[in-house]
Amino acid sequence: MHINHLSLTSFRNYGRLELDFPAGPVLLHGANAQGKTNLLEAIYYLATARSPHVEQDHQLINWEADQPTENVVVGRLVAQLSTRDDLHHIEIRLIKEYQRGQFTFRREALVERRKVRLMDLLGNLRAVLFLPQDVQLITGPPSRRRRYLDITLCQVDPIYCHNLSTYNKVLEQRNALLRRIAESGKGRDVLPVFTEKLVDLGSYLFTRRATFVASLARQAQRIHYEELTDGRETIRLNYLPRLFAANSGRSDEDTVQQAIELAGWLAEQAGLAQVTERFHQALAELQPVEIASGMTHVGPHRDDWRFWVNGRDLSSYGSRGQQRSAILGLKLAEINWMTAETGETPILLLDEVVAELDEQRRALLLNAVQSVSQAILTATDPGMFTEEFLNQATTMTVQNGRVLVDRQQPAAA
Ligand SMILES: Nc1ncnc2c1ncn2[C@@H]1O[C@H](COP(=O)(O)OP(=O)(O)OP(=O)(O)O)[C@@H](O)[C@H]1O
Ligand SMILES: [Mg+2]
Repeated sequence: MHINHLSLTSFRNYGRLELDFPAGPVLLHGANAQGKTNLLEAIYYLATARSPHVEQDHQLINWEADQPTENVVVGRLVAQLSTRDDLHHIEIRLIKEYQRGQFTFRREALVERRKVRLMDLLGNLRAVLFLPQDVQLITGPPSRRRRYLDITLCQVDPIYCHNLSTYNKVLEQRNALLRRIAESGKGRDVLPVFTEKLVDLGSYLFTRRATFVASLARQAQRIHYEELTDGRETIRLNYLPRLFAANSGRSDEDTVQQAIELAGWLAEQAGLAQVTERFHQALAELQPVEIASGMTHVGPHRDDWRFWVNGRDLSSYGSRGQQRSAILGLKLAEINWMTAETGETPILLLDEVVAELDEQRRALLLNAVQSVSQAILTATDPGMFTEEFLNQATTMTVQNGRVLVDRQQPAAA
């Protein structure tokens, strides 16, 4: 898959951008704070409808355009892409409307110039983004890791995305109901209705996440062992589904072990009916606790996943370099997984990450750059790339929200 043209209007520090992408890798370079990351973010946003930085989406609109004196301010992101067998046109609009000093914000999505639900835009453009702060996937909170699973899966599986969105709504309603039961004793009779819906949707999410992580883990483990550490280090990646009532009397280690076993069962043997039964059982066990706390304690919204290196938890025991290698392995695995699932390579977006890698790892990543149909890289200093790489790439300078092509490869022109 390849983006042929990108248009941005009032997005971040881009007032107006019309940019053609040639074939072959593109290197965006320039000083700090010029808009390199913003450009990758725009492409990623078209793929996922999410910003990699967790913040409110209305902040993506250009500050200068965003004046309360205007009634409506619109940020637009448009991409023309070619896939294996077709050309596509996709667009997201960020719309901020002011009324008496207050604003409302909404988004619109268009595919082939027709309005669609935002959810239905996903999957048209598929991208793998690699940022320096991605190590926080290892060191950060579980919510960050769940977000990673969701964003990645939503790019290839529309049913997952749909079920996830409905699950989150049902979860909110169920929690509100649990609080109401706790406060007034009323509503017990409708709890099974919400539980039933939650279990149906949640069971799909559990199963899909389990098969996804199992497949990602196989790839990441192999890449890490064979290509990143020359057989010195074994990494394991495990999905930790919260499909059981965590027993306060048990050690953390036991709980993790139970989750790992369940993940194996989910990925390999369990049919949806069995998962549903198990989910029901866990919720039934916990009902008094859930009513007392007004919260749903088991379900995919409490899942996690983790890396282990040589048997130890990478978030607590890994060195910074080991954590970086694990993330590199994960990203390379993600490219392979997406390609296998869709029959097409995703667009690879690399933000400043090449600079952080040693020679061997850099070579491996640049290998991946060659293997996809489109890779867009950023760097403050293009000098760290080899002559060989620079000869194949188109380089562009990013300066204060403008992009200038320095040199386009003859082959790519
Ligand atoms: N909504 C917005 N409107 C206008 N400018 C914005 C908006 N959001 C961010 N910016 C600005 O965009 C600028 C460029 O950001 P970006 O992260 O893309 O820089 P960069 O070229 O990647 O720099 P670095 O090399 O430091 O990573 C920053 O100065 C930031 O303040
Ligand atoms: Mg940047």
